[in-house]
Amino acid sequence: MLHSTDPKILFLQEEDVIKAGALDMRMTLDAVEETYRMFGRGELLNPPKTHMEMPIGCNGDWASFFNTMPCYLGKDINIGGVKWAAEAKNNSNIPGIPYGIDITILSDPETVLPFCILDGTLITAMRTSAVAGVFAKYTAPKGCDSALLVGAGVIGRTMIMAICEALPGIKKIYLSDLDISKAEALKKEYEGVYDAEIIPVTDAKSASKETKLIVTETTSGKTFIDESWLKPGDTMINMGSYEADKGTVKSSDVIIVDYWDQVITSPTKAVSLLYKDGEITEDDVYNLSDVVLGKWQGRTDDSQIVNCSSLGLGALDIMIGYKVFLKAKEMGIGTEVKLWNKPLWE
Ligand SMILES: NC(=O)c1ccc[n+]([C@@H]2O[C@H](COP(=O)([O-])OP(=O)(O)OC[C@H]3O[C@@H](n4cnc5c(N)ncnc54)[C@H](O)[C@@H]3O)[C@@H](O)[C@H]2O)c1
Repeated sequence: MLHSTDPKILFLQEEDVIKAGALDMRMTLDAVEETYRMFGRGELLNPPKTHMEMPIGCNGDWASFFNTMPCYLGKDINIGGVKWAAEAKNNSNIPGIPYGIDITILSDPETVLPFCILDGTLITAMRTSAVAGVFAKYTAPKGCDSALLVGAGVIGRTMIMAICEALPGIKKIYLSDLDISKAEALKKEYEGVYDAEIIPVTDAKSASKETKLIVTETTSGKTFIDESWLKPGDTMINMGSYEADKGTVKSSDVIIVDYWDQVITSPTKAVSLLYKDGEITEDDVYNLSDVVLGKWQGRTDDSQIVNCSSLGLGALDIMIGYKVFLKAKEMGIGTEVKLWNKPLWE
Protein backbone atom coordinates (compact mmCIF):
# COMPACT_ATOMS: atom_id res chain seq x y z
CA MET A 1 0.00 0.00 0.00
CA LEU A 2 2.91 2.37 0.61
CA HIS A 3 4.19 4.03 -2.58
CA SER A 4 0.70 3.39 -3.92
CA THR A 5 -0.46 5.50 -6.83
CA ASP A 6 -3.94 4.01 -6.63
CA PRO A 7 -6.35 6.71 -5.34
CA LYS A 8 -8.59 4.16 -3.55
CA ILE A 9 -9.79 5.17 -0.10
CA LEU A 10 -11.37 2.74 2.34
CA PHE A 11 -14.21 4.48 4.18
CA LEU A 12 -14.98 2.99 7.59
CA GLN A 13 -18.16 4.12 9.25
CA GLU A 14 -18.66 3.63 12.97
CA GLU A 15 -20.21 0.17 12.58
CA ASP A 16 -17.13 -1.00 10.60
CA VAL A 17 -14.78 0.53 13.16
CA ILE A 18 -16.57 -1.46 15.88
CA LYS A 19 -16.31 -4.71 13.88
CA ALA A 20 -12.60 -4.04 13.39
CA GLY A 21 -11.97 -3.94 17.14
CA ALA A 22 -12.18 -0.29 18.19
CA LEU A 23 -13.98 -1.22 21.42
CA ASP A 24 -11.10 -3.42 22.57
CA MET A 25 -9.80 -1.52 25.59
CA ARG A 26 -6.82 -3.87 26.12
CA MET A 27 -5.61 -3.19 22.56
CA THR A 28 -6.21 0.53 23.08
CA LEU A 29 -4.24 0.68 26.33
CA ASP A 30 -1.31 -1.16 24.72
CA ALA A 31 -1.44 1.12 21.64
CA VAL A 32 -1.48 4.24 23.85
CA GLU A 33 1.60 3.07 25.78
CA GLU A 34 3.43 2.13 22.59
CA THR A 35 2.63 5.52 21.04
CA TYR A 36 3.97 7.38 24.08
CA ARG A 37 7.13 5.26 24.00
CA MET A 38 7.60 6.19 20.32
CA PHE A 39 6.91 9.84 21.16
CA GLY A 40 9.54 9.79 23.91
CA ARG A 41 12.08 8.16 21.57
CA GLY A 42 11.47 10.75 18.85
CA GLU A 43 9.97 8.18 16.48
CA LEU A 44 6.91 10.20 15.57
CA LEU A 45 5.99 13.77 14.67
CA ASN A 46 3.06 15.36 16.44
CA PRO A 47 2.90 19.16 16.27
CA PRO A 48 0.50 20.73 18.82
CA LYS A 49 -3.09 20.78 17.63
CA THR A 50 -4.63 23.83 15.98
CA HIS A 51 -7.73 24.94 17.87
CA MET A 52 -10.49 27.07 16.32
CA GLU A 53 -13.52 28.27 18.30
CA MET A 54 -16.88 29.49 17.04
CA PRO A 55 -18.73 31.82 16.76
CA ILE A 56 -16.30 34.49 15.63
CA GLY A 57 -15.46 36.82 18.53
CA CYS A 58 -16.64 34.38 21.25
CA ASN A 59 -13.51 35.08 23.32
CA GLY A 60 -13.24 31.63 24.84
CA ASP A 61 -16.98 31.33 25.44
CA TRP A 62 -17.34 28.95 22.50
CA ALA A 63 -20.43 27.18 21.24
CA SER A 64 -18.35 24.73 19.23
CA PHE A 65 -14.75 24.13 18.18
CA PHE A 66 -12.65 22.22 15.65
CA ASN A 67 -9.15 20.87 16.29
CA THR A 68 -6.73 19.74 13.58
CA MET A 69 -4.39 17.05 14.90
CA PRO A 70 -1.73 15.96 12.38
CA CYS A 71 0.84 13.25 12.95
CA TYR A 72 3.48 11.11 11.27
CA LEU A 73 4.28 7.68 12.73
CA GLY A 74 7.81 6.65 11.82
CA LYS A 75 9.82 3.41 12.08
CA ASP A 76 8.22 0.46 10.32
CA ILE A 77 4.71 1.95 10.66
CA ASN A 78 5.50 4.85 8.30
CA ILE A 79 2.10 6.51 7.83
CA GLY A 80 0.78 10.04 8.08
CA GLY A 81 -2.62 11.11 9.29
CA VAL A 82 -4.80 13.76 10.77
CA LYS A 83 -7.76 13.81 13.10
CA TRP A 84 -10.37 16.50 12.57
CA ALA A 85 -11.86 16.69 16.06
CA ALA A 86 -14.84 18.71 17.17
CA GLU A 87 -17.10 19.38 20.12
CA ALA A 88 -20.39 21.32 20.31
CA LYS A 89 -21.90 22.35 23.64
CA ASN A 90 -25.47 22.21 22.40
CA ASN A 91 -25.07 18.63 21.21
CA SER A 92 -25.72 17.59 24.82
CA ASN A 93 -29.32 18.79 24.27
CA ILE A 94 -29.79 17.13 20.89
CA PRO A 95 -30.84 13.47 21.16
CA GLY A 96 -29.02 11.12 18.82
CA ILE A 97 -25.77 13.03 18.41
CA PRO A 98 -22.61 12.88 20.56
CA TYR A 99 -21.02 15.93 22.22
CA GLY A 100 -17.70 15.21 20.48
CA ILE A 101 -17.51 14.08 16.82
CA ASP A 102 -14.25 13.14 15.09
CA ILE A 103 -13.05 11.91 11.72
CA THR A 104 -9.59 10.58 10.86
CA ILE A 105 -7.69 10.47 7.55
CA LEU A 106 -4.74 8.11 7.05
CA SER A 107 -2.27 8.88 4.26
CA ASP A 108 0.73 7.34 2.54
CA PRO A 109 3.72 9.57 3.38
CA GLU A 110 5.54 8.66 0.14
CA THR A 111 2.89 9.56 -2.45
CA VAL A 112 0.78 11.49 0.09
CA LEU A 113 -2.35 9.73 -1.16
CA PRO A 114 -5.01 9.17 1.49
CA PHE A 115 -5.91 5.47 1.85
CA CYS A 116 -8.46 5.45 4.66
CA ILE A 117 -11.08 7.79 6.11
CA LEU A 118 -12.67 6.51 9.28
CA ASP A 119 -14.99 7.52 12.07
CA GLY A 120 -12.75 8.74 14.87
CA THR A 121 -15.46 9.35 17.46
CA LEU A 122 -15.34 5.99 19.22
CA ILE A 123 -11.56 5.76 18.94
CA THR A 124 -11.33 9.19 20.58
CA ALA A 125 -13.48 8.08 23.50
CA MET A 126 -11.53 4.83 23.90
CA ARG A 127 -8.06 6.35 23.60
CA THR A 128 -8.87 9.35 25.84
CA SER A 129 -9.86 7.06 28.67
CA ALA A 130 -6.93 4.78 27.90
CA VAL A 131 -4.59 7.75 28.47
CA ALA A 132 -6.13 8.11 31.93
CA GLY A 133 -5.73 4.34 32.34
CA VAL A 134 -2.01 4.59 31.55
CA PHE A 135 -1.63 7.57 33.90
CA ALA A 136 -3.39 5.50 36.60
CA LYS A 137 -1.29 2.39 35.97
CA TYR A 138 1.94 4.29 36.59
CA THR A 139 0.85 6.76 39.27
CA ALA A 140 -1.86 5.21 41.48
CA PRO A 141 -0.59 4.38 44.96
CA LYS A 142 0.20 0.73 45.76
CA GLY A 143 -2.88 -1.37 46.54
CA CYS A 144 -5.29 1.19 45.08
CA ASP A 145 -8.61 -0.68 44.96
CA SER A 146 -11.12 2.09 44.24
CA ALA A 147 -11.57 5.15 42.07
CA LEU A 148 -13.82 8.18 41.83
CA LEU A 149 -14.84 9.01 38.26
CA VAL A 150 -16.44 12.44 37.80
CA GLY A 151 -18.51 12.58 34.60
CA ALA A 152 -20.73 9.80 33.28
CA GLY A 153 -20.96 10.82 29.63
CA VAL A 154 -19.25 9.20 26.65
CA ILE A 155 -15.74 9.45 28.13
CA GLY A 156 -17.12 8.40 31.54
CA ARG A 157 -18.38 5.18 29.97
CA THR A 158 -15.01 4.31 28.39
CA MET A 159 -13.27 5.45 31.60
CA ILE A 160 -14.89 2.58 33.50
CA MET A 161 -13.36 0.19 30.93
CA ALA A 162 -9.94 1.86 31.03
CA ILE A 163 -9.60 2.04 34.81
CA CYS A 164 -10.83 -1.53 35.36
CA GLU A 165 -8.51 -2.90 32.63
CA ALA A 166 -5.48 -0.84 33.69
CA LEU A 167 -5.89 -1.54 37.42
CA PRO A 168 -7.41 -5.02 37.77
CA GLY A 169 -7.38 -4.66 41.58
CA ILE A 170 -10.13 -2.00 41.44
CA LYS A 171 -13.13 -3.21 43.44
CA LYS A 172 -15.23 -0.02 43.71
CA ILE A 173 -15.89 2.81 41.31
CA TYR A 174 -17.70 5.85 42.69
CA LEU A 175 -19.33 7.49 39.66
CA SER A 176 -20.73 11.00 39.80
CA ASP A 177 -22.44 13.31 37.33
CA LEU A 178 -24.59 16.43 37.57
CA ASP A 179 -27.22 14.16 36.03
CA ILE A 180 -27.16 11.19 38.42
CA SER A 181 -29.44 9.17 36.12
CA LYS A 182 -26.47 8.90 33.70
CA ALA A 183 -24.31 7.34 36.44
CA GLU A 184 -27.17 4.99 37.34
CA ALA A 185 -27.56 3.95 33.68
CA LEU A 186 -23.82 3.15 33.45
CA LYS A 187 -24.03 1.12 36.66
CA LYS A 188 -26.69 -1.05 34.95
CA GLU A 189 -24.74 -1.22 31.69
CA TYR A 190 -21.56 -2.45 33.42
CA GLU A 191 -23.28 -4.84 35.88
CA GLY A 192 -21.12 -8.00 35.92
CA VAL A 193 -18.71 -6.83 33.21
CA TYR A 194 -15.84 -6.10 35.62
CA ASP A 195 -15.14 -7.11 39.24
CA ALA A 196 -15.66 -3.51 40.34
CA GLU A 197 -18.93 -2.45 41.93
CA ILE A 198 -20.15 0.84 40.42
CA ILE A 199 -21.59 3.19 43.01
CA PRO A 200 -23.42 6.28 41.68
CA VAL A 201 -22.80 9.26 43.97
CA THR A 202 -24.29 12.76 44.07
CA ASP A 203 -21.59 14.22 46.33
CA ALA A 204 -18.31 13.71 44.47
CA LYS A 205 -16.27 15.63 47.03
CA SER A 206 -17.34 13.32 49.87
CA ALA A 207 -16.61 10.29 47.66
CA SER A 208 -13.09 11.67 47.02
CA LYS A 209 -12.34 10.96 50.70
CA GLU A 210 -13.06 7.24 50.15
CA THR A 211 -10.46 6.69 47.41
CA LYS A 212 -6.95 7.65 46.31
CA LEU A 213 -7.66 7.83 42.60
CA ILE A 214 -9.78 10.69 41.23
CA VAL A 215 -10.40 10.96 37.48
CA THR A 216 -12.42 13.78 35.92
CA GLU A 217 -13.99 13.71 32.45
CA THR A 218 -16.73 16.34 32.49
CA THR A 219 -17.88 19.12 30.18
CA SER A 220 -17.93 21.59 33.07
CA GLY A 221 -17.22 25.14 31.86
CA LYS A 222 -15.75 26.18 35.20
CA THR A 223 -13.50 24.77 37.89
CA PHE A 224 -15.27 22.95 40.72
CA ILE A 225 -12.43 20.98 42.33
CA ASP A 226 -9.91 22.57 44.68
CA GLU A 227 -7.12 21.23 46.86
CA SER A 228 -9.52 20.42 49.72
CA TRP A 229 -10.51 17.36 47.63
CA LEU A 230 -6.94 16.02 47.92
CA LYS A 231 -5.19 14.06 50.67
CA PRO A 232 -1.73 12.46 50.93
CA GLY A 233 -1.24 9.60 48.47
CA ASP A 234 -3.87 10.74 45.96
CA THR A 235 -3.54 10.61 42.20
CA MET A 236 -5.75 13.11 40.39
CA ILE A 237 -6.19 12.85 36.62
CA ASN A 238 -7.97 15.68 34.75
CA MET A 239 -9.16 14.95 31.20
CA GLY A 240 -11.58 17.89 30.73
CA SER A 241 -10.67 21.51 30.09
CA TYR A 242 -11.54 23.18 33.41
CA GLU A 243 -12.53 20.97 36.38
CA ALA A 244 -9.61 21.30 38.84
CA ASP A 245 -8.14 24.65 39.90
CA LYS A 246 -4.51 25.77 40.08
CA GLY A 247 -4.34 24.88 43.80
CA THR A 248 -4.79 21.17 43.03
CA VAL A 249 -1.69 21.22 40.83
CA LYS A 250 0.33 23.47 43.14
CA SER A 251 -0.30 21.21 46.12
CA SER A 252 0.86 18.13 44.20
CA ASP A 253 4.33 16.62 44.65
CA VAL A 254 4.54 15.33 41.09
CA ILE A 255 3.00 16.90 37.98
CA ILE A 256 2.64 14.84 34.79
CA VAL A 257 1.14 15.96 31.47
CA ASP A 258 0.43 14.06 28.27
CA TYR A 259 2.37 16.55 26.13
CA TRP A 260 3.94 19.70 27.59
CA ASP A 261 4.29 21.77 24.37
CA GLN A 262 0.60 21.31 23.71
CA VAL A 263 -0.87 21.46 27.22
CA ILE A 264 0.59 24.96 27.72
CA THR A 265 -1.46 26.20 24.75
CA SER A 266 -4.65 25.54 26.75
CA PRO A 267 -6.35 28.74 27.92
CA THR A 268 -8.09 26.88 30.76
CA LYS A 269 -6.11 23.92 32.10
CA ALA A 270 -4.74 24.55 35.60
CA VAL A 271 -1.24 23.40 34.67
CA SER A 272 -1.17 25.79 31.71
CA LEU A 273 -2.42 28.71 33.83
CA LEU A 274 0.30 28.05 36.42
CA TYR A 275 2.90 28.11 33.65
CA LYS A 276 1.53 31.34 32.17
CA ASP A 277 1.54 32.93 35.65
CA GLY A 278 5.22 31.95 36.06
CA GLU A 279 4.47 29.61 38.97
CA ILE A 280 5.86 26.47 37.28
CA THR A 281 8.30 25.75 34.44
CA GLU A 282 8.79 22.79 32.14
CA ASP A 283 11.44 21.50 34.57
CA ASP A 284 8.74 20.95 37.21
CA VAL A 285 6.76 18.63 34.97
CA TYR A 286 7.11 15.11 33.53
CA ASN A 287 5.67 14.13 30.16
CA LEU A 288 3.74 10.86 30.03
CA SER A 289 6.36 9.62 27.56
CA ASP A 290 9.03 10.08 30.29
CA VAL A 291 6.88 8.02 32.62
CA VAL A 292 6.33 5.07 30.26
CA LEU A 293 10.04 5.13 29.32
CA GLY A 294 10.95 4.93 33.03
CA LYS A 295 12.47 8.44 33.31
CA TRP A 296 10.18 9.08 36.31
CA GLN A 297 11.30 6.79 39.11
CA GLY A 298 7.70 6.43 40.37
CA ARG A 299 6.31 7.41 43.74
CA THR A 300 9.14 7.65 46.24
CA ASP A 301 6.59 7.27 49.02
CA ASP A 302 2.90 6.56 49.18
CA SER A 303 2.04 9.94 50.68
CA GLN A 304 2.94 11.86 47.53
CA ILE A 305 0.15 13.57 45.60
CA VAL A 306 0.40 13.11 41.84
CA ASN A 307 -1.44 15.34 39.38
CA CYS A 308 -1.93 14.30 35.73
CA SER A 309 -3.47 16.37 32.92
CA SER A 310 -4.20 15.64 29.30
CA LEU A 311 -5.19 17.65 26.26
CA GLY A 312 -5.05 14.72 23.80
CA LEU A 313 -2.46 13.49 21.30
CA GLY A 314 -3.34 13.08 17.60
CA ALA A 315 -0.74 10.31 17.24
CA LEU A 316 -2.97 8.06 19.34
CA ASP A 317 -5.84 8.47 16.90
CA ILE A 318 -3.60 7.71 13.95
CA MET A 319 -1.95 4.69 15.61
CA ILE A 320 -5.27 3.13 16.64
CA GLY A 321 -6.99 4.18 13.40
CA TYR A 322 -4.24 2.37 11.47
CA LYS A 323 -4.69 -0.81 13.53
CA VAL A 324 -8.43 -0.65 12.85
CA PHE A 325 -7.77 -0.09 9.12
CA LEU A 326 -5.47 -3.15 8.94
CA LYS A 327 -8.07 -5.30 10.69
CA ALA A 328 -10.85 -3.99 8.43
CA LYS A 329 -8.76 -4.86 5.33
CA GLU A 330 -8.19 -8.35 6.70
CA MET A 331 -11.94 -8.73 7.34
CA GLY A 332 -12.86 -7.25 3.96
CA ILE A 333 -15.20 -4.64 5.45
CA GLY A 334 -15.73 -0.95 4.67
CA THR A 335 -16.68 0.90 1.53
CA GLU A 336 -14.17 1.72 -1.17
CA VAL A 337 -14.33 5.15 -2.79
CA LYS A 338 -11.93 6.84 -5.20
CA LEU A 339 -10.40 10.29 -5.15
CA TRP A 340 -10.47 10.31 -8.96
CA ASN A 341 -10.63 7.95 -11.94
CA LYS A 342 -7.86 9.93 -13.60
CA PRO A 343 -6.52 13.20 -12.17
CA LEU A 344 -7.41 16.11 -14.44
CA TRP A 345 -4.01 17.73 -13.97
CA GLU A 346 -0.75 16.08 -12.99
N1 LIG B 1 -8.01 15.07 26.93
C1 LIG B 1 -8.49 14.52 25.85
O1 LIG B 1 -7.78 13.92 25.04
C2 LIG B 1 -9.96 14.58 25.57
C3 LIG B 1 -10.48 13.95 24.42
C4 LIG B 1 -11.86 13.95 24.23
C5 LIG B 1 -12.70 14.57 25.15
N2 LIG B 1 -12.14 15.19 26.24
C6 LIG B 1 -12.97 15.91 27.21
O2 LIG B 1 -13.74 14.99 27.97
C7 LIG B 1 -14.86 15.69 28.50
C8 LIG B 1 -16.10 14.82 28.45
O3 LIG B 1 -16.49 14.59 27.09
P1 LIG B 1 -17.72 13.63 26.74
O4 LIG B 1 -17.64 13.33 25.30
O5 LIG B 1 -17.77 12.50 27.72
O6 LIG B 1 -18.96 14.58 27.02
P2 LIG B 1 -20.46 14.14 27.40
O7 LIG B 1 -21.33 15.32 27.11
O8 LIG B 1 -20.80 12.84 26.78
O9 LIG B 1 -20.36 13.91 28.98
C9 LIG B 1 -19.96 14.92 29.88
C10 LIG B 1 -20.64 14.67 31.22
O10 LIG B 1 -20.10 15.60 32.18
C11 LIG B 1 -21.16 15.91 33.06
N3 LIG B 1 -20.80 17.11 33.82
C12 LIG B 1 -20.66 18.39 33.37
N4 LIG B 1 -20.29 19.20 34.39
C13 LIG B 1 -20.16 18.41 35.50
C14 LIG B 1 -19.80 18.66 36.86
N5 LIG B 1 -19.49 19.88 37.28
N6 LIG B 1 -19.78 17.61 37.72
C15 LIG B 1 -20.12 16.36 37.30
N7 LIG B 1 -20.47 16.08 36.02
C16 LIG B 1 -20.50 17.08 35.14
C17 LIG B 1 -22.36 16.07 32.14
O11 LIG B 1 -23.59 15.99 32.85
C18 LIG B 1 -22.15 14.89 31.18
O12 LIG B 1 -22.80 13.72 31.61
C19 LIG B 1 -14.97 17.00 27.68
O13 LIG B 1 -14.51 18.06 28.49
C20 LIG B 1 -14.02 16.78 26.54
O14 LIG B 1 -13.44 17.97 26.09
C21 LIG B 1 -10.81 15.19 26.47
